[in-house]
Amino acid sequence: MRILSRFVIFRLGARGYANVVETYAPQTVLKKIRRIQLQPETPIECPDKVEILCEKKTDSKRVSLVLEQYRELQLKYPKHIILMQVGDFFEIFDNAAKNVSQVLDIGLCESRYGTTMTGFPLRTMDTYLDRLVRAGSSLVLVEQQEARPPNTAITRRVTRIITPGTITEENLLDSGTNNFMLSVEESADGYGLAWIDLSTGYFRILEIEGKELYNELVRINPIEIISAPNLWKLEEMDRFVKNHRAVLSDLEFPKDSAAFVKLFGSDFNDTTFTASELAAGLRLLNYVTATQMEKRPYIECPQRHSQQDSVRLDAAALRALEILRNNSTNTKENSLLDVIDETCTAAGSRLLIQRLQTPLLKMAEIDRRLDQLALFYEREELLTDIRSFLKKCKDLERCFQRLALNRSTGGPRDMQAIQQTLKQACEIQQRLCAVDALLAADLGHRIDSCLQLIDELERAIVDSPPSKASDGSLIRTGYSAALDELRGESVSLESRCAALVEQYRKETINRKTLGWFVEVNRSEGKLESDRFVLDGQIDKKYRYRTDELNGLNRDFAMGGEEILKEEMRIYEELRGKVIGAGDKIMATARTLAELDVIASNALLAKKRGFTRPLLKDNFEFTVENGRHPVVEHKHADVGRSFVHNSCDLGPSKRFALVTGPNMGGKSTFLRQNALIAIMAQCGMYVPADRAVLGLVDAVYTRIGASDDLSRDRSTFMVEMIETANILNQASPQSLVIMDEVGRGTAAKEGYSLAWGICKYLYSKGCRTLFATHYSDLSKLVTTFPHSQCLMSAARLDADGLYFLHQIFKGVATKSHAIEIAKLAGMPKEVLIYALEVGAIGESEKPGESGGSRVS
Ligand SMILES: Nc1ncnc2c1ncn2[C@@H]1O[C@H](COP(=O)(O)OP(=O)(O)O)[C@@H](O)[C@H]1O
Ligand SMILES: [Mg+2]
Repeated sequence: MRILSRFVIFRLGARGYANVVETYAPQTVLKKIRRIQLQPETPIECPDKVEILCEKKTDSKRVSLVLEQYRELQLKYPKHIILMQVGDFFEIFDNAAKNVSQVLDIGLCESRYGTTMTGFPLRTMDTYLDRLVRAGSSLVLVEQQEARPPNTAITRRVTRIITPGTITEENLLDSGTNNFMLSVEESADGYGLAWIDLSTGYFRILEIEGKELYNELVRINPIEIISAPNLWKLEEMDRFVKNHRAVLSDLEFPKDSAAFVKLFGSDFNDTTFTASELAAGLRLLNYVTATQMEKRPYIECPQRHSQQDSVRLDAAALRALEILRNNSTNTKENSLLDVIDETCTAAGSRLLIQRLQTPLLKMAEIDRRLDQLALFYEREELLTDIRSFLKKCKDLERCFQRLALNRSTGGPRDMQAIQQTLKQACEIQQRLCAVDALLAADLGHRIDSCLQLIDELERAIVDSPPSKASDGSLIRTGYSAALDELRGESVSLESRCAALVEQYRKETINRKTLGWFVEVNRSEGKLESDRFVLDGQIDKKYRYRTDELNGLNRDFAMGGEEILKEEMRIYEELRGKVIGAGDKIMATARTLAELDVIASNALLAKKRGFTRPLLKDNFEFTVENGRHPVVEHKHADVGRSFVHNSCDLGPSKRFALVTGPNMGGKSTFLRQNALIAIMAQCGMYVPADRAVLGLVDAVYTRIGASDDLSRDRSTFMVEMIETANILNQASPQSLVIMDEVGRGTAAKEGYSLAWGICKYLYSKGCRTLFATHYSDLSKLVTTFPHSQCLMSAARLDADGLYFLHQIFKGVATKSHAIEIAKLAGMPKEVLIYALEVGAIGESEKPGESGGSRVS
């Protein structure tokens, strides 16, 4: 038999094997090398440089089938890149080949079918997948069917569609954030949304009003949106996709309405969801089925994301308060999340993000979280203990999901990670149950460490399992008698071979024998015995085989296959057991994440001196000696101290006008109070000596200038839109933060607008902090019975301007603009011209501060 080659190996890691040049592709070559050589232990470097040398001269009919199927699929999936498995390669043809070769920086050539083609070896899939997905591509994987009857043609089928939202590979995901894909369906006056993180199985559904779409998109932050194409034109959708680099998808698929029941059985009650929620959920589930093919990921029974139970934080508030990302680089650095995240597991970090985005409204739930935090806060040893176990935990949710999806690589290692993490969970459970507090035992009882499964996996999987189950050598000796027997036979074959070779050595006295064939130096002449059949000449040696060696060779190869088959069987059996325990494992994973967040918050509170807030069902708002958690932390890094400030927005002074010079600390003061309210309702301790807070139903912010030129809106227009939203939506229970509204236009009109806004907001009855340079607004505010005027002060003395960063009662009439401009390095002339105009600075006198400190 002669196998025609398309690929010629140029560099072989092992000793030279002229005959392997005729084989098909690297992996096949390797298998062949192993068989010929009969020394499976010999390290053979997989050839990594392959080049297409000659066109295949076999029947063009079979060849054209590949291209035919490829083109059919390209028509079916016009926006995707088709990766066609041909032997040990993935190949891409036609125009797509050019794009892929550019993205991956790999060669392009003319294929045997006369088309442009590129490709890469199967084993490099992970690396190339990474690059293609990062470039925003969606891929269709067409794999050869492994098992086929002898002498039948190779068949290929689509095994997986890879899109940014369906990735589960560890190296392609950010461990600390969810990877959501979201589907949108129209309803009578809004949209049904469904979103899922396929890597963890987290699944939520929600119907929203039309005007909420952008806010919800920003909050969920999906990487991929699935909807009917007519929705892609929506202004909100378009804006989100452009700003957040999400991809839009719409795959034709049958709408199988039984999908919910099939997946969730009686757990799912469709009467609790609206028609558009069900439609969105269905579209999403169908998309998962369409992309994962016959693979069955773990998906939790969908829950409605409860808007009524959480504090409303819209896109503007999330951005202005820099909760998850900073405003300058749009990264996590220097955000609230960045400085409060002490979690030690990826799932904990993901949960913390979810919690920060949705602070709670229900007192009982907040108190429960605070009690849990207190439990760890008060027991330092427990805190240290639990965290030391958590640090050893792997990403249980994602390991489990990869195993459920039976991804080609990583399976045995994920299985081992699950076993090791469950073992830690078991330790954590024991610690919690030993604490004399009901709350701890409660948490402990929610962990199911699946003891039997841990034990079985520990006995079965070797200490360092291979990445792929098909590589073999993953099952421990002693776990399966059948496997041990097969391995025993293989070992005995090896020793028989060795004995035989030794015997030949003796028979061919003075002639060197090597490995499981016989080699002699050519200078010593040929072996004369008929028993030795010349197999070839390599370098300066003759190589011989014998019938006995060939027989052993065959047996050994067959034995190897049997061993692998048995290992794969055991692996699949174990995988089935792990998947069977899916609900318990995932529930344990979620409890571990929760524990991590509680422990993280407790540690943070200890490290940073945060205190337990007292939440009330009224309109109080008393913060004693509050601090801004981010600014304080950054100051501490450089040895600067942070000046704490108190704030009382209780019913008798619910509207506060805050004046003061630039750089005086107004914005910081405003934000710190909003952050304290949010942290408290997340169930966290807060940066203050004492905080008594009536629950807020929403935090609205209008802070800083943000141009949105892409939407053809000026800074001022954006400011007005955001302010209008706040005025229309704020309730008496809301907390409103307004920072210098009306400054972006002519002074007089800006002042008039600010006046109107103050009056309207006050009439709404919400707790409000209103920072402004229009000190004359105090004339209006003092007419409000339940208001107060606050100011940040600066001192101007002989050495220059000094910011106290303290908040006092009173109204600041000086902006110290000239002094600040001087500090900023403004050319002297500008300062002189400005002073000449005499509008500012004339009456500034050293020592001015005014007001009395709020305490
Ligand atoms: N309470 C404080 N303690 C220490 N430094 C502060 C404090 N408040 C503000 N700062 C510092 O002053 C800078 C300016 O504060 P900011 O709130 O932006 O002032 P304003 O809004 O009045 O112009 C901040 O970046 C911070 O470094
Ligand atoms: Mg400011």
